Amino acid sequence: MTTAKKSMDDIMALCKRRGFVYQASEIYGGINGFWDYGPLGAQLKKNLRDAWWEDMVMNPCRGRRGPGGERVRCVPVETCIIQHPKVWEASGHLAGFADPMRKCPGCGHFVRADQYWETLAQGSEWLRSLVQEFEPSPEPTKSPGLDSARMLKWAKSKGKRLAPNLALVRNPEVTLSWLATRVNGQPDVPPELEEIVRYVATEQLHATGLQEPCPRCGGVLDAPAPFKLMFESWAGVTQSDDNKVYLRPETAQGIFVHFKNVVDTTRVKVPFGIGNTGRSFRNEITPRNFTFRSREFEQAELEFFCHPDEAAGWYAFWRDFRLEWWRSVGLGSDNLRLREHEKDELSHYSTATCDIEYRFPFTAPDFGELEGVAHRGCYDLTQHTEHSGVKLDYFDTERGETLPNGSRKGERYVPHVIEPAAGLDRGALAIVCEAYTRDESRPSPEIMRFHPRIAPIKAAVFPLVNKDGMPEVAERLHAELFARFGRAGFVEMDAKQSIGKRYARMDEAGCPCCFTVDGDTLKDQTVTVRDRDTGAQERIGIDRSAEYLAERLGA
Ligand code: GAP
Repeated sequence: MTTAKKSMDDIMALCKRRGFVYQASEIYGGINGFWDYGPLGAQLKKNLRDAWWEDMVMNPCRGRRGPGGERVRCVPVETCIIQHPKVWEASGHLAGFADPMRKCPGCGHFVRADQYWETLAQGSEWLRSLVQEFEPSPEPTKSPGLDSARMLKWAKSKGKRLAPNLALVRNPEVTLSWLATRVNGQPDVPPELEEIVRYVATEQLHATGLQEPCPRCGGVLDAPAPFKLMFESWAGVTQSDDNKVYLRPETAQGIFVHFKNVVDTTRVKVPFGIGNTGRSFRNEITPRNFTFRSREFEQAELEFFCHPDEAAGWYAFWRDFRLEWWRSVGLGSDNLRLREHEKDELSHYSTATCDIEYRFPFTAPDFGELEGVAHRGCYDLTQHTEHSGVKLDYFDTERGETLPNGSRKGERYVPHVIEPAAGLDRGALAIVCEAYTRDESRPSPEIMRFHPRIAPIKAAVFPLVNKDGMPEVAERLHAELFARFGRAGFVEMDAKQSIGKRYARMDEAGCPCCFTVDGDTLKDQTVTVRDRDTGAQERIGIDRSAEYLAERLGA
């Protein structure tokens, strides 16, 4: 099933109802761009973070060998959200980390210039209403959108309320006359919607050219201007520019500034990677699509340092592994894809970059970025060397010409970097969207088919009734399963409501297995085990429960 058929409203409702995601500060009306995780969401995200940590840092690539057959070595760091401001000067964030914004002088609304048409199509009430008014045209010979009588009627009625600053509303006759000139000039080429939108926003065509209207009020937008994305604060008692600090917009720079420390204090040798996970902050202009674009979010980034001659091989290696990894945590369908950047999309220092993308219900049929894998060359280490005065190069004793005694002369170089940079909130959201399944043939149709490694609840134990010795047996089984699997997620014990309702609750939480203790358990030491995905039930010996669960979880 593609996510295109899934409803984001249903998914968000389930996330709230079952305690995956809450709006931050909800009792005060929420705060735009900030989300909190409830008990199930917090554990789900922890499982995703742990999986990343295990497969990227502790046992990189699950033991797979690098492009030259070498063992892949990685170590972690944990770095501060607030760094010296010069870090952001060196990284280029202070000068360049900004989105092009357009402001509406009429209503004060801001729109990201590079997402203008998308924002208009998705969120403009007046445009939706106008399109409904003129499509389809009642006269088949006329192209849709060119029925001036209906547009005039709209301008004088709904338009006044929905788009008071739109040229078509303020001065309909003039605007429509420009549109008529355009159509009469090229009668065989009916204008596209984007062109019509520009015409209805334009009064002074000769003086101004075609204009672009505000998605909210229809007013003419100002020219794009940069809007800085970094949150600012102060460190120290005086709140002056001298004390200004920034909340990090990425975890990566914390790694680069410790490259030399890690080399000097551990036994790592290039090639090796440094991983860092944690919160990052971006004052996104238009946070939206649930947790997809938030102002506070979590990243999991690896900077992999290698010899320049080997960087292309490592880039391909990490790109392929990261795609495979996302598949392994539950994104196995064709909703996941890899997209190599075109040459004109690349940063000036990058020779190759790709995005790993997921087709979310709100992006479908398009895809949204989960992770970027970038070949960053020696840009970051060089920048920090220039700005700090500390040389961030590497002396490789295993390179250079072979000396008469058989050792190598050594080679000094600035390592090149491959950066797989993942977003854990986007990852968790993709996993939730992929897992969400409706099966109308089941009594309770909503099921979260999480991969067992990521599922926040690993198992549930139910006494069929809360008497006749069943709770005691269930308690013992629960204690056994908890001792073995409780570090990886919840092991639930539930005796409330009918057994059907308890199963349905666990299906919505994505619990892979439920064990039910009933009257027969007391006689023959067996339990019913029910599979979340098929709803099938089988009877197994209670003493086999832990092994059964281990197999189901792949643990
Ligand atoms: N160091 C490189 C870097 O930060 P990025 O593409 O800007 O690259 C990496 O960010 C990942 O962080 C993205 O692929 C995305 O998953 C996540 N991310 C970025 N901005 C985000 C936002 N506003 N909300 C949620 N996740 C975000």
